[in-house]
Amino acid sequence: MSILNVEVIKSYVRMCNDGWLQGWHERNGGNLTYRMTKEEVEACKDSFTYERPWVPMGVTAENLAGEFFIATGSGKYFRNVILAPEENICIAELNAKGDAYRVVWGLTKGGRPTSEFPSHIMNHSVKKAATDGAHRVIYHAHPGNIIAMTFVLPLTDKAFTKALWTSATECPVVFPGGVGVVQWMVPGGADIAMATSELMKKYDAAVWAHHGLFCSGPDFDTTFGLMHTIEKAAEIYVKALSCGQGIRQTISDQQLLDIARDFGIKLNEELLG
Ligand code: 13P
Ligand code: ZN
Repeated sequence: MSILNVEVIKSYVRMCNDGWLQGWHERNGGNLTYRMTKEEVEACKDSFTYERPWVPMGVTAENLAGEFFIATGSGKYFRNVILAPEENICIAELNAKGDAYRVVWGLTKGGRPTSEFPSHIMNHSVKKAATDGAHRVIYHAHPGNIIAMTFVLPLTDKAFTKALWTSATECPVVFPGGVGVVQWMVPGGADIAMATSELMKKYDAAVWAHHGLFCSGPDFDTTFGLMHTIEKAAEIYVKALSCGQGIRQTISDQQLLDIARDFGIKLNEELLG
């Protein structure tokens, strides 16, 4: 069977295209990585080759040593993934120290994994530890409304979480832990990787000021759904403010707690008030 017919590759490609259709991936914007299971590696490994060089990542993730990741290519366009997956995505193996990778499949016309690979790897490392291995997907996108919010709200976890929770009633149920906010930083390096992964110890989503959003989850549906829910809430918030009257009424802290009680959700109460 062709690797392109393996279920995990098909699901990965579908998610790339879903993100493109949402308008979150202008040009080469955004990136997606997935930590493969042993069974998925087994299903794909007949297509692997091992002649490409090991490349240092600038970060170390000991708990990911020897693992395989599906990744979008740096500079590749999400809109092209569905047309030619083997040219635009790859599978990368981490070495025994967890500080370098080599591409074992894909990027057939050249290239390297996303420039945000260090951020993805640090987030995978933190989330693997925090969720006992459950989280496998890290997704970075450039959704317009959440980015717009970073120009008008204080860049704090509390301000963003409250604005998003109160913009759509389902939000506290979908991300009861809240969202973190990373101040503006140069993308693509070890510093932004460390800052983001620090927040990911607490949250499943981190806003990058004036840039985009990182989400983590156990599978493609949940992670895409988290990105979608946050961006939809951001759209409502931006639209409401754009009416020009300010926010006249909203969901109160007590009402957020009422939702949590009835849905059996543990809300991060540090972010209320
Ligand atoms: P890549 O093309 O290297 O994935 O970069 C896109 C991006 O969104 C950087 O933050
Ligand atoms: Zn980006």
